[in-house]
Amino acid sequence: MPCSSPRPLFFRNAAQLLTLAGPPVPRRGPALGELGILPHGGLLTEGEVILRVGRTRLLEREALRRRAEAIDCGGRVVMPGFVDSHTHLVFAGSRVNDYELRLRGKTYEEIARLGGGIQSSARKLGKASVQFLARQARQFLDEFAAYGTTTLEVKTGYGLEMAQELKTLRVIRSLQEESALDLAPTLLAAHALPASFRGRHAEYVKALVERLIPPAADQKLAEFIDCFCDRGAFSVEDCRRVLTAGRRLGLMPRLHTEQLSHNGATRLAIELGAASADHLDQVSAADIRALARSNVAATLLPGANFHLGLPSYPPARKLIAGGAVVALATDFNPGTSPTLNMQFILSLACAQMRMTPAEAIAAATINGAFALRRFARVGSIEAGKQADLIVLDVNDYREIPYYFAMNHCLLTVKRGRIIYARP
Ligand code: NIG
Ligand code: FE
Repeated sequence: MPCSSPRPLFFRNAAQLLTLAGPPVPRRGPALGELGILPHGGLLTEGEVILRVGRTRLLEREALRRRAEAIDCGGRVVMPGFVDSHTHLVFAGSRVNDYELRLRGKTYEEIARLGGGIQSSARKLGKASVQFLARQARQFLDEFAAYGTTTLEVKTGYGLEMAQELKTLRVIRSLQEESALDLAPTLLAAHALPASFRGRHAEYVKALVERLIPPAADQKLAEFIDCFCDRGAFSVEDCRRVLTAGRRLGLMPRLHTEQLSHNGATRLAIELGAASADHLDQVSAADIRALARSNVAATLLPGANFHLGLPSYPPARKLIAGGAVVALATDFNPGTSPTLNMQFILSLACAQMRMTPAEAIAAATINGAFALRRFARVGSIEAGKQADLIVLDVNDYREIPYYFAMNHCLLTVKRGRIIYARP
């Protein structure tokens, strides 16, 4: 990453500048739909941060004085870069075989029992070199930037065996060092039981607690710790042990909850003060009330429902009405959600979960930042925050989900530097 300070930029005359500015709290209920729109908006950057935001004509003079490079956004929408708070970026190859088996009628869980699913990704990752994994992930990171994502969480979870999980963490570390994007690393070793621990859940959990979590925490290779807490994966009790051990060593819990079955995982996330509870397809009314009283982000991943061809989606409207902090993320992974396009996730959120375009945008920016506990730095366009923003070739923000499965992103700016410009 370049170390000299970027030159000041002056974004002029956006048809709509979506600031997402507001009190420093996550957005719940009606506040989720408030984008803080500035018509004819502009902003000035200084180094890696936003210096000033306002009507363009009020910024012109200062921009000249600072010799800022002017970028004309006439007729376009400018908004914060997307914060994708749930991805499984590091894997080897795809799972197109599973995809076709599913299309021929097998379910996600049946394929997993037949040795496909997460286990097949683990076999591939075990054979892949660090260089191969980094190269594939790097190409995806370029695509994330091109689609307007400026911060993303990255989970392990296709290593499973201790050495392979550590290998994945090191790949993430090297990507963090070289990428312009901010990556938030999460240890998700409790994703599936590795082949060498077949039938021995308790022993695997013990091994994670004693042999994997300590080096991951000591070497600061992870920031968060996650578990797949569901039918066919890990029990609430197993997950409590893993997450508590991680938390004790400074890793913040987050959790895959109630995707396939209702098992009390959301309650565990709340009990542990997790950063987020993700999926929530089978969440109950009582869980929603408890989420609303908590600071656990309710992260919805409609890309997985879409790719699995499921008829139902997580109950976004109930979560919003109940007062939970709703976030949206891609769940980018080879098994259930091979998309990194947050704009398409907004379309799914609107068409399938009846979120409004404004709610979807806030859930994918400011509330995503809250889910990654980076709320003070990213997720909105406000003076003092990191200059992470995108320019989209639409003149009304509602066109972002409306023209679906397209890439509207013209320009991506990360920490005050242009890292992507549509050719
Ligand atoms: O978030 N639910 C578990 N984990 C991933 C899928 C992993 C896979 O099938 O490779 C998810 O959907
Ligand atoms: Fe996931």
